[in-house]
Amino acid sequence: MFYPTFRARRIRGKEVFRNMVRETSLSTNDLIYPMFSAFGKGIKKEISSMPGIYQQSIENIVAEAQEAYELGVPAVILFGIPETKDAVGSDAYAEHGIIQETIRALKKEVPKLAVITDVCMCEYTDHGHCGIIKDGDVDNDETLELLAKEALSHAQAGADMVAPSDMMDGRVMAIREALDNNGYKHIPVMSYAVKYASGYYGPFREAAESTPQFGDRRSYQMDPANRLEAFREAQMDVEEGADIIMVKPGLPYLDVVREMRNQFNLPVAVYNVSGEYSMIKAAAQMGWIDEDRVTMETMMSFKRAGADLILTYHAKEVAKLLHKGYEIDRASRCGCP
Ligand code: PBG
Ligand code: ZN
Repeated sequence: MFYPTFRARRIRGKEVFRNMVRETSLSTNDLIYPMFSAFGKGIKKEISSMPGIYQQSIENIVAEAQEAYELGVPAVILFGIPETKDAVGSDAYAEHGIIQETIRALKKEVPKLAVITDVCMCEYTDHGHCGIIKDGDVDNDETLELLAKEALSHAQAGADMVAPSDMMDGRVMAIREALDNNGYKHIPVMSYAVKYASGYYGPFREAAESTPQFGDRRSYQMDPANRLEAFREAQMDVEEGADIIMVKPGLPYLDVVREMRNQFNLPVAVYNVSGEYSMIKAAAQMGWIDEDRVTMETMMSFKRAGADLILTYHAKEVAKLLHKGYEIDRASRCGCP
């Protein structure tokens, strides 16, 4: 293809053509909204590094989930801030734990909204690690039992899907078995298959009050330098029965999203994590970027990289923009909507 026989600008010359040849689309069906459920009543506490995102008690979660549902967001993913934490994360698998109660309330009040739960220990342990500590490190195999219990208790409370984020080896199999043996064969597992040890989780740890009290998560989360390791991690989870594989964080790992899409024929999800959200919010507050435009461009980048689903704190905003008929194309000319 060479100039002047070929002119790349011809097909860009009219909006109608740009709309006709756009390769990637974004829909509210792609969105999953993360929410933080806090023990108590009347709580709605904004996370300082995540404007617009709150720790909230159940009645407020229900109200916001209803709003998200009405905007067309089909699913939420829940994180819990329990009343008390201990060494073995008891609240994570308690029948009346914070998440279990939140699930029941949501399924009662907003039954058509899909409720996905994050399955991990770090929000429930007093040391803030994602599993049981033995000899100064997280013990893989003991943690598996607790994760299986946690996932099962979420299913028993009515969760529509469970999403393990702990990065223990064998957790998808352990969870799958627990679900299958107890009458929950139909509940899908979305695995945080490729999860890097990332600085981009900083704001989340404020939101979930889950900062490790010693050390870091590098003995179980992945090294940001690694690409081939992502294939091994995803392969394991696929063979253990994962229904959806996730890459996390999103923007700094778009290459890995593309690799997963090319390599596996399962749905691929991407987690547009807290630090990615905070950066857009901060730059927008400074007046340095056009927030709506950058947000939508970011969403489109996930879809273009091959993601089917996007877990994002921007979910409600994105849904609103989509309803307004927002086109990236249009914004680039006139600055609307
Ligand atoms: C728990 C978990 C984390 C996130 C999702 N599940 C934090 C972590 O691993 O430290 C991060 C989400 C975000 O930053 O938005 N294991
Ligand atoms: Zn964790």
